[in-house]
Formats: sequence, structure tokens, C-alpha cells
Amino acid sequence: MSNIRFRLNGVETTVDADPDRSLLDIIRGPLRMTGPHFGCGANECGACNVIVGDHAVAACDTPLWSVADKDITTIEGLGSAREPHPLQRAFIAEQALQCGYCVSGILMSAAALLMRNPNPASDDVRAALDRNLCRCGSHNRMVRAVLRAAAEMADR
Ligand code: FES
Ligand code: FES
Repeated sequence: MSNIRFRLNGVETTVDADPDRSLLDIIRGPLRMTGPHFGCGANECGACNVIVGDHAVAACDTPLWSVADKDITTIEGLGSAREPHPLQRAFIAEQALQCGYCVSGILMSAAALLMRNPNPASDDVRAALDRNLCRCGSHNRMVRAVLRAAAEMADR
């Protein structure tokens, strides 16, 4: 066990745990945030994606030790029911989800893209979401939603 410190959704956080445990285990377990979902557990579906710095990573395949002193954002830090992020508003406007299981991971991939590239082309969005699986087949509407959010953010 060892103390690992990082910032989680802007809050200084210290976890006393096995540094080889996955970040997803820690977030969903002791930190009690259930936004990042467990899908494949093997870095193949993106359901567990969170943002570390300005890149989306699969939390199921990210050891705790590797996020020491880093900034981590989960879906809980993106927006809220009262103040949704433009991406969340756009996903609703475009009806870009069905069961919703994949969506928190997809929103984090999209948010990381917009942090690095506020004016993405459709191909940029498709590339950013390439490793996120959606069993409901909502990808085309998701791409439209990300472009809609980018346009709204550019107009602010
Ligand atoms: S649960 Fe992490 S990539 Fe599938
Ligand atoms: S909306 Fe159901 S898996 Fe994507």
C-alpha cells in the first residue's frame, strides 16, 4: 500500500492503496464515483474512459501509480444536471444515445478532443471516438453532437 496523490475533478485527492490497482477500481470503489463504467476491462471498449491531463485514457488499464500528481477528470467533473457541459446538451439535442452505457466514456473522449482541438473536423471526431465502442450503433449521431458542441463553444 502507498499514498498516491492526484487532483480528481479539481479536488486534491489522496488514496492509500496498492499502486498497481487500476484507476477504474479506485474511482468506482473507494472514491465512489460510478460515472466511468466497466465494460471489457481490457482497454478495448472505452466505457471506462477518463481524462488524464488532456487525453482520454482507459481507466481499467491505467495503474494508480501512473496518475500520481496528475489532473484527472471523470464524467462527474464535466457537467451536472443543473449545469450540463455543451457536449451533454448536444448529445441530448441530437438524441445521440440509446442505452447510455458507453456514453460517459464517449463524452470523455470527446471532451479531451475539444481540449486539444476546439474546432475539429468530422474526421477528427471519428478518429477521437475510434476506440469507443457503442453496441447501440449511435456513432453517427454522436459525431454530429460533438460537432454541434464544438460550434456552440466557438460561438461563446
Ligand atoms: S472497460 Fe476499460 S476499455 Fe473497456
Ligand atoms: S448507447 Fe448503448 S452502448 Fe452506446
